[in-house]
Amino acid sequence: MDISPFSLRGQVALVTGATGGLGAAIVRALAAAGADIAIADLPARHAAAVPLAADVAAFGRRAVFVPLDVTDVSSINEAFARAEDGLGPLGIAVANAGVNIRKPGLDLTEAEWDTVIDINLKGVFFTCQAAGRRMVPRGHGSIVAIASQHGLVATPRSPAYSAAKAGVVNLVRSLAVDWAPLGVRVNAVGPTFVETGLTRDYLGDPAVRAEIVGKIPLGRLGKPEEVAHAVLFLASPASSLVTGSCLVADGGWTAV
Ligand SMILES: NC(=O)c1ccc[n+]([C@@H]2O[C@H](COP(=O)([O-])OP(=O)(O)OC[C@H]3O[C@@H](n4cnc5c(N)ncnc54)[C@H](O)[C@@H]3O)[C@@H](O)[C@H]2O)c1
Repeated sequence: MDISPFSLRGQVALVTGATGGLGAAIVRALAAAGADIAIADLPARHAAAVPLAADVAAFGRRAVFVPLDVTDVSSINEAFARAEDGLGPLGIAVANAGVNIRKPGLDLTEAEWDTVIDINLKGVFFTCQAAGRRMVPRGHGSIVAIASQHGLVATPRSPAYSAAKAGVVNLVRSLAVDWAPLGVRVNAVGPTFVETGLTRDYLGDPAVRAEIVGKIPLGRLGKPEEVAHAVLFLASPASSLVTGSCLVADGGWTAV
C-alpha cells in the first residue's frame, strides 16, 4: 500500500491541452504518481498524444486519447464520457488548454477577444462543470485550472489573456465554495513564463527574454515539470485542506 499523501495510485485524471508544453509535463507527473490518464486535446493533436501515451505506459499506467475542443461544450462532455468509458471514474481533472493573442488593447479585434476568452475562460468553466457533474455525485474529486501569474498582475499587450486568467482565479474560488460541502476541491496554478509553444516566439527575442528573466526573483524561467509538481500537489490528498486557492509557481514574480 502506498501511504504517501502525494500518491495518485488507483486514480484517473483527465488533462486538457495535454500534448502541449505544460500539459505533457502534467500528464507525466500525474502518471508518475500513479494515475491513469485521459489525454484530452484537439483532434489534430492525436499524433502528438502517441509518444505521450507511451510515457504514461512506461510508468505502468493506462492512457487514452480523448479528442475535444474546449470551445465546444458538447465535445467536452463527450471527452469526459469517453475517458470514463476507457479508464473508469475520474477523480482528477486539469483544465490546462489555453492560448494567447498578444496584441495591444487598441488593436485587438472582437474575434481575437472571443477566441482567447472562449478557450481560456469559457473552456475552463465548462471543463470544470463536466468534471463537477461526475465528481459531486460521488462526493470526492480535485479539479485544477491552469491560470497564470497574469491573472494576478498585468502583462503588456495581452488584455484578453489577462482578463481570462483573472477570471479563472475567481472562477475556482466560486466553484470551490459551492462544491466544498460536496467533497470536491477546485484550485488554480499560476505559472510564470515557461518556454513552450505558447511563449517560444515571444521569448525568442533576446531583449524580451532578458527583461522577463530580470523580473523573476529566482533569476530564471520556469520549467514545465515545476508547474506540473504544483498541479500534482493540488490534485493529490497532500492538499486536502486547500480549495479555492491559486498557487503561484512564479519564481517570486508576484511577490515583488
Ligand atoms: N507557457 C507559459 O509561460 C505559461 C505561463 C502561464 C500560464 N500558462 C498556461 O498554461 C496552459 C498551457 O500552456 P502551454 O504553455 O503548455 O502552451 P502550449 O501552446 O504548449 O499548449 C497549449 C495546449 O492547448 C491546446 N489547445 C488549444 N486550444 C484548444 C482548444 N480549443 N481545445 C482543446 N485544446 C486546445 C493545444 O492543442 C495545446 O496542446 C495555458 O492555459 C497557458 O495559458 C502558460
